[in-house]
Amino acid sequence: MTISRRDLVGRALALAAAPLLGPMRAFGEDADPLITSADQAVDVFDFERLARAKLPPAHFGYLATGVDGDATLHANTAGFGHLGLRVRRLVGVNQVDMSVNLFGTAWDTPIVIDPVGSQRAFHAEGELGTAKAARSRKTLQVLSTVSSTSVEDVGAARGEPVWYQLYPTDQWDITQALVKRARDAGCPALALTVDLQGGSNRVTLARSLRVDPRDCKTCHTTSRTQLSGFIAGKPMFSGLDLSKVGGLTSLDMNWDFVDRLRGIWPRKLLIKGIVTREDAELAIARGVDGIFVSNHGGRGEDSGRASIDSLPEVVAGVRGRIPVIVDGGIRRGSDIFKALALGANAVGIGRPYIWGLASFGQAGVEKVLDILKNELTIAMRQAGTRSVSDIDRSYVVDDRRA
Ligand SMILES: Cc1cc2nc3c(=O)[nH]c(=O)nc-3n(C[C@H](O)[C@H](O)[C@H](O)COP(=O)(O)O)c2cc1C
Repeated sequence: MTISRRDLVGRALALAAAPLLGPMRAFGEDADPLITSADQAVDVFDFERLARAKLPPAHFGYLATGVDGDATLHANTAGFGHLGLRVRRLVGVNQVDMSVNLFGTAWDTPIVIDPVGSQRAFHAEGELGTAKAARSRKTLQVLSTVSSTSVEDVGAARGEPVWYQLYPTDQWDITQALVKRARDAGCPALALTVDLQGGSNRVTLARSLRVDPRDCKTCHTTSRTQLSGFIAGKPMFSGLDLSKVGGLTSLDMNWDFVDRLRGIWPRKLLIKGIVTREDAELAIARGVDGIFVSNHGGRGEDSGRASIDSLPEVVAGVRGRIPVIVDGGIRRGSDIFKALALGANAVGIGRPYIWGLASFGQAGVEKVLDILKNELTIAMRQAGTRSVSDIDRSYVVDDRRA
């Protein structure tokens, strides 16, 4: 890679400016120069550092936060560290095919763009930048209910309808309106998120709000800490009477709700946030079409359990009957390889592509997808696997059980 004089000057300036970015110190500093264009990134962490430097503290805090002492957040990445790869040699790995099939649609890679709310808080392009990157990289995108752009506009930018993530709220008429809109927009799949039902104590976010008292009207209408102020400005809630809404989900939500939702959603229905074998079996018994093994990127419960550690029991409960997508802490191609080896059909990424979006908009998201794809290609070759179906449990050892 050649680095132009302009890039060198940019890097020097960024390095010189880093200590001046006062409040960012709260999130830690790194002496490495910041990248100045997406193509300079060598791994996804180059984007994390730049996002930390560029974003207002409250927005970076919203992105980075876990719950309580961030134990589950850290467990998600640490979980991969316990897994080593048993690599095979002399297989002949010139052709590597990482395509996967979900509900009859073939995807070039097993990487799914997870739902992340309020993307205009990270870059002016917001969900449209993500959608254009998903289009150019032919990647499956799941749109959040609390997106800063509507499902219709995102579908238009993506070039086809996206999957829709549902926070049903605690009001059935609002659930119906959201589902109808996703249905009318042609979304082929709906993912009901069930892992925030007990609320979440986001300490890192609360700390970031202390150092960033601005009232950001891009993200909030009235109050930045109250739900009403958060959702009222979101396009998917536009025109709806939100006066009775008390939560993104109801504390009463149970499996009967899944049946009820089934009654108004004619296409594929997934549940996002399953982490046990028992719940996987219940989901199948209720006719659910797919599962996201997820703890919301460590932003839900303070379980301290990595989602990669939840994956094997969910896979055991599912027994190949429906697709399983796992997310949480995936930062490298080798992490994707490990998830596939433990039985996932695909993997979701959240923060990594948002780091890319915050850094360079669409180009940043594209580069994150390219990096992970390239790393997975190398991991597959190194391990001696030519296709996703070659990758099984025999390729992974867990140092806690070895
Ligand atoms: C800033 C942020 C916002 C999120 N918003 C949503 C959301 O609106 N709906 C949802 O189901 N999950 C949401 N998630 C969770 C992601 O879909 C995903 O499960 C998680 O980010 C994966 O972990 P990772 O960030 O370590 O890759 C959000 C995550 C982050 C970091």
